[in-house]
Amino acid sequence: MTKILFAASEAVPFVKTGGLADVVGSLPKYLDKDEYDVRVIVPKYACMEENLKKMLRFHSHFYVSLGWRRQYAGILTVQYENIIYYFIDNEYYFAGDKPYNNIYEDVEKFAFFSRAVLDALPLINFQPDIIHCHDWQTGLIPVYLKNLYQSKTFYQGIKTIFSIHNMKFQGRWMLNAVMDITGLPKELFQPGTGALESYGEANYLKGGILYSDIVTTVSPTYAEEIKTPAGGEGLDGLMRMKQDRLYGILNGIDYELYNPKTDSHMAKHFDRLDFVPGKKANKLALQDILHLPKRDDVFLVSIVSRLTNQKGFDLVAYDLEEILSKDPIQFAVLGTGEEKYEKMFRYFAGKYPEKIAVSTNYSEALAHKIYASSDAFLMPSLFEPCGLSQLMSMRYGTIPMVRETGGLKDTVEAYNEYEDTGNGFSFCNFNAQEMLDMLHYAMHVYFEHRERWNEMAVRCMEMDYSWGNSAAEYGKIYKRLL
Ligand code: GLC
Repeated sequence: MTKILFAASEAVPFVKTGGLADVVGSLPKYLDKDEYDVRVIVPKYACMEENLKKMLRFHSHFYVSLGWRRQYAGILTVQYENIIYYFIDNEYYFAGDKPYNNIYEDVEKFAFFSRAVLDALPLINFQPDIIHCHDWQTGLIPVYLKNLYQSKTFYQGIKTIFSIHNMKFQGRWMLNAVMDITGLPKELFQPGTGALESYGEANYLKGGILYSDIVTTVSPTYAEEIKTPAGGEGLDGLMRMKQDRLYGILNGIDYELYNPKTDSHMAKHFDRLDFVPGKKANKLALQDILHLPKRDDVFLVSIVSRLTNQKGFDLVAYDLEEILSKDPIQFAVLGTGEEKYEKMFRYFAGKYPEKIAVSTNYSEALAHKIYASSDAFLMPSLFEPCGLSQLMSMRYGTIPMVRETGGLKDTVEAYNEYEDTGNGFSFCNFNAQEMLDMLHYAMHVYFEHRERWNEMAVRCMEMDYSWGNSAAEYGKIYKRLL
């Protein structure tokens, strides 16, 4: 039995700010139970929902040395959907109304978490073969392991995998401050040669990439893009250097959670055979909830997203007036994030209340309703490591309209009207006119060639983006490592 510990800063259902949580909360369930004992360790944040916090049992506690500091760490645990979760508790570090705060607080918080993860292992009596780390917040785990722990018998032979969900977030902060916080050897911070140094700052992501045994990212195309100056966020040279142990594995989604036949949030269930009436019933119900005119003869486009520039909202801002003033279209928007995008959407919702409804309070229930009810899903990302919501949309026969980047390129094949193939619409350059042209072309197919549209929606529903394939790919990597 191979023992694997997932270490991350978020996991569904306990805490979520983005797709990372979906992956950490679902992939472990799909790794073969007979072959793997997979457990997950995350922080216990004050902002977790009360009913979830109540589920956790106290296990034990210890103290973590962090430079000159000695900090309390509690271990809590719960078994959830057959997976054992551990939570590191510290009310000072994990306070506040959200998991992340200012970067200077976060670098200390996650240095603490990373050491606490390693120190907790003997206490929970779990000696993993592999620690599978996710994103910069856990970048120091391989660094600590190789520098401070490998002389201890318990830790010898533990391998590490580092998965990059987003290259943009690197955990960067002042060299001296991070040296003081982490207590790691001085040479790691030497400008030019130090493994943790990058462009004059300390960089957790770089540390994770350099010290782990294998690096993965969440789609094959993104694995290529991060080796180029355009996609590497300053670390493309490092990625080229590590390319022989860099793998791109597409994320899956939880096909039980996102299932048009059983989803409890839907007005009416449907499958491939009764997709047309099913979609219509959901569409009318959603329009009702969102106070949009209840009509089937409009093109209902949705957006469910973090509102950040990564997701292409500068293009949307540029095009919306043109679209809303002329086209037989409705938008259902659900997202939270940068204020300027929230304001932009509210402005349009105020000006065109018959055409666009915006909700900036994230709700899982509303997200499911939107995926199930829309005709098309818009995701014009500037860059996209994998993207999950286009996969969720497709599951409900909602056709994705995307920019050809990262995982969007790997999962959405543009409609070809001559051969009647494809499962979506796409455009290439990050350009508002190209996005508009794509949207108009999609709308043309929707209104003028509905048979074709519906066939494509069914093709979307037949795609298999469940975890099965990806979990098998991770399995191969685990084997390679051992
Ligand atoms: C990040 C990326 C997104 C990816 C997710 C899960 O949120 O931005 O593209 O799907 O992580 O890996």
